[in-house]
Amino acid sequence: MPRFNPLVAEMAPPPIPAVQGWALAYDGHLGPEIDLSQAVPGYPPHPDMLRWLGQAAARVSTAAYGPIEGDQALREAFATYQNALYGARLRPENIHITAGCNQAFMVTALAVAEPGSRVLLTNPFYFNHETSLRMYGVNIRLVNCPAAGGFLPDPATVAAAIGPDVRALALVSPNNPTGAIYPPELLDALFEVCRARGIFMILDETYRDFLPPEQRRPHILFDRPGWDETLISLYSFSKGFCIPGHRLGAVIGSPALVAELVKIMDGLQICAPRAGQIALTEALPALTAWREANRVEVNARAAKLLSVMAGCLGWEVAAIGAYFAFVRHPFRQEKSAAVVERLARDVGVTTVPGSYFGPGQEEFLRVAFANADVPTLDGLASRLVALQQ
Ligand SMILES: Cc1ncc(COP(=O)(O)O)c(C=O)c1O
Repeated sequence: MPRFNPLVAEMAPPPIPAVQGWALAYDGHLGPEIDLSQAVPGYPPHPDMLRWLGQAAARVSTAAYGPIEGDQALREAFATYQNALYGARLRPENIHITAGCNQAFMVTALAVAEPGSRVLLTNPFYFNHETSLRMYGVNIRLVNCPAAGGFLPDPATVAAAIGPDVRALALVSPNNPTGAIYPPELLDALFEVCRARGIFMILDETYRDFLPPEQRRPHILFDRPGWDETLISLYSFSKGFCIPGHRLGAVIGSPALVAELVKIMDGLQICAPRAGQIALTEALPALTAWREANRVEVNARAAKLLSVMAGCLGWEVAAIGAYFAFVRHPFRQEKSAAVVERLARDVGVTTVPGSYFGPGQEEFLRVAFANADVPTLDGLASRLVALQQ
């Protein structure tokens, strides 16, 4: 009898469908479901984006394979965009387009870590980073990021966790699941540890478009001489452009890294979806004002969640940032998955259990507040009260 790869077979099924399944049992008596589980922008893509996508998809030339690294025009447009945001001097050769940021992480991990080697993840971590590494047979060492420290990784703790088998430190800022925004000085210090110890720093910047306006530039790492020997930055077009279904992301690193990724992508995907690449090339320079308005809106949602939770006895926002909040629930004796199930089933609020993001996170729930508009978030308070009655 053939058997499946135990590294995959032993893994739990994907978490988001599981928690959304619990919401199916909600009878609607308090109003429509409030889905704060998966990070999906709660507003549609810009109408021009839809038009560009449609036009690009209707062209015969789009149906052909494109360059493995991504369409040259998009790599140029993205480099220009990144340079303006970070004050950097990236070239198209620094960019590899992927089918989403999860794929960006998977190809990057494959490029830097062989089976049996090790990658450092924060605890709590983004679960797809953990599962991808496990599937590859790459070991994980967790760097604890306690609530008391704002869920931020301590450079000294990171340094102490680096052994000879460690190939990379993987970070997410603004963070999933906690929302914590890593200050530029912290990212600088973490970069310095990685550089000095000869390991890669993989920085997933999926949520950087939603940073508060005063913190628009996420870090200054691209300014550092030889940055690309250490830093690998990952980006997702899913959230900022509201096109998660079109599956587009990017890896930003050295041309040598891009050359490695080309070998991996050729077997995996050949090229990222073409219509989206063509549409994004138009959208990157053109939709700046729309994206800015979304940033303001998501920040307003964060402020609303904070004010709503302040009025909910026993609930506490332990961290909040560009897209998520990590919220301490009042049911100390209960597992976080049980709390999430009750929330979904009894009062129609879907979140994700803290336990899905690492050990010792039972007291927390991840709340993707950016999915819901301000009036919807207002309705959260009565649901939480109803749960406690
Ligand atoms: C930190 C992080 N990285 C990557 C992704 C996946 O993004 P994409 O849709 O581009 O694969 C997500 C999506 O939720 C995420 O939270």
